[in-house]
Amino acid sequence: MEVLKNKKTLQDFIERQKEMGKKIGFAPTMGALHNGHLSLYKKAKEENDLVISSIFVNPTQFNNAEDLEKYPRDINRDILILKNSDLVDAVYIPEVVDIYPEKAESLHYDFDGLENEMEGKSRPGHFDGVGTVVEELFRQVKPDNAYFGEKDFQQLAIIKKMVEKKKLPVKIHGVSIYRAENGLALSSRNQRLHENRREASKIIYETLKKVNDWFRVITIPEIKERVKDIFESQQGMQLEYFLIADEDSLKETDFFYKDRNFRAFIVVVVDGVRLIDNMHLD
Ligand code: PAF
Repeated sequence: MEVLKNKKTLQDFIERQKEMGKKIGFAPTMGALHNGHLSLYKKAKEENDLVISSIFVNPTQFNNAEDLEKYPRDINRDILILKNSDLVDAVYIPEVVDIYPEKAESLHYDFDGLENEMEGKSRPGHFDGVGTVVEELFRQVKPDNAYFGEKDFQQLAIIKKMVEKKKLPVKIHGVSIYRAENGLALSSRNQRLHENRREASKIIYETLKKVNDWFRVITIPEIKERVKDIFESQQGMQLEYFLIADEDSLKETDFFYKDRNFRAFIVVVVDGVRLIDNMHLD
């Protein structure tokens, strides 16, 4: 596996691959790799000649300095995981200057309103930061296909929208949420939780499964009341938001319509760690 530590070495590498006509699959990450990332690489390997990943903790997408500072980083461990996985051909580990040659600042994006829902309300400026880094990485890596986890469903929708609006020559693929045995959605942030708290956090997935059972049986306001009650009795857990939204517009709804797809979205803060999850409702 090639370890590409700056823009120039990446560009040389990409040029060689393009000359050989290789189809490139790309999965950008912020490191602290886990099996969820490996599931992206697996899909990328099935569908491309070559898999590239990037590891870059993007400063512009953190609206909270403490969250950026506490974001888990262990580059040597990550490189070892990538090498052992045998799924990735090259990893790009840029410096801030390779992505932001002048100032680490976001561009401003219009994602047709998708950016104003859910995470957009809780984390102002977050999606401008994501759009800026992902667009720049796409321009440098020039992938044919790019892979993102459905855990960050709104991020996935926003990246699809950016690619559509800017007519970027890359196809975006969503990959199903990878869950631990107890159902907790895998996230780099889980590393910050003690094992017993990780175990207790399975209640998030269990709640989503209950929501799916209640969907179309009781009203959405009743479902929301029940979810609120569940988390009120959980020590050290705060429900930041729970809502049901249209899967395309991401707009919250209190009513379900026959021919639309809906998804439940939840954010719970467990011992100061923000855990996010979602589930398609059927
Ligand atoms: O999902 C992530 O890890 C990040 O938001 C991404 C897409 C790598 C951009 O920094």
